[in-house]
Amino acid sequence: MQFHEREVAVLIGEEALQARIRALGVEIARDYQGKELTVLAVLKGAVFFATDLARSVDLPLTMDFLGVSSYQGGTETTGEVRITSDVTKPMAGKDILVVEDIIDTGLTMKFLLENLRARQPASVKVCTLLEKPTRARTKIEIDYKGFVIEDKFVVGYGLDFADRFRNLPFIGVMKGR
Ligand code: IMP
Ligand code: MG
Repeated sequence: MQFHEREVAVLIGEEALQARIRALGVEIARDYQGKELTVLAVLKGAVFFATDLARSVDLPLTMDFLGVSSYQGGTETTGEVRITSDVTKPMAGKDILVVEDIIDTGLTMKFLLENLRARQPASVKVCTLLEKPTRARTKIEIDYKGFVIEDKFVVGYGLDFADRFRNLPFIGVMKGR
């Protein structure tokens, strides 16, 4: 028995996940042909997705990381977003692809996009592995999307519950929630 089996049920298996990520990588490589892409992963959740995605993009690219926190420990965003760790390079003039694990209410991405646009990049696009459209509290234009899911709290492949389960290779739902 694996450590998670009592608590987590598979929602999107590893193979489906990886196949979708490879397809997104092909799409992104086609769209950014001739450009120097900056993959900007949102810490900590999007790190697993962003590194697999970057490996699927057959283009020269650079990676950077932006840490944000919108939770006070629960499973619902408070709407107040803080930058906990900023990027390491100037974003001005860059073609930025923001990579997120999930867009839920959209409030985190809204804040991030406003913050990034103020730094005058050449372009900003959004790539999210998951979207929960029923929970949206603001409209976010998503350029690349892995999967649309129902309003369930998911874990795995970067997504956590109280900082646990990030290391599962699939997306799962917490049993009994
Ligand atoms: P939003 O601001 O409500 O769109 O929330 C975005 C952030 O909330 C994501 O980056 C996740 O860290 C977290 N989050 C939202 N839904 C889930 C979930 O189902 N499981 C784990 N984390 C989630
Ligand atoms: Mg997150």
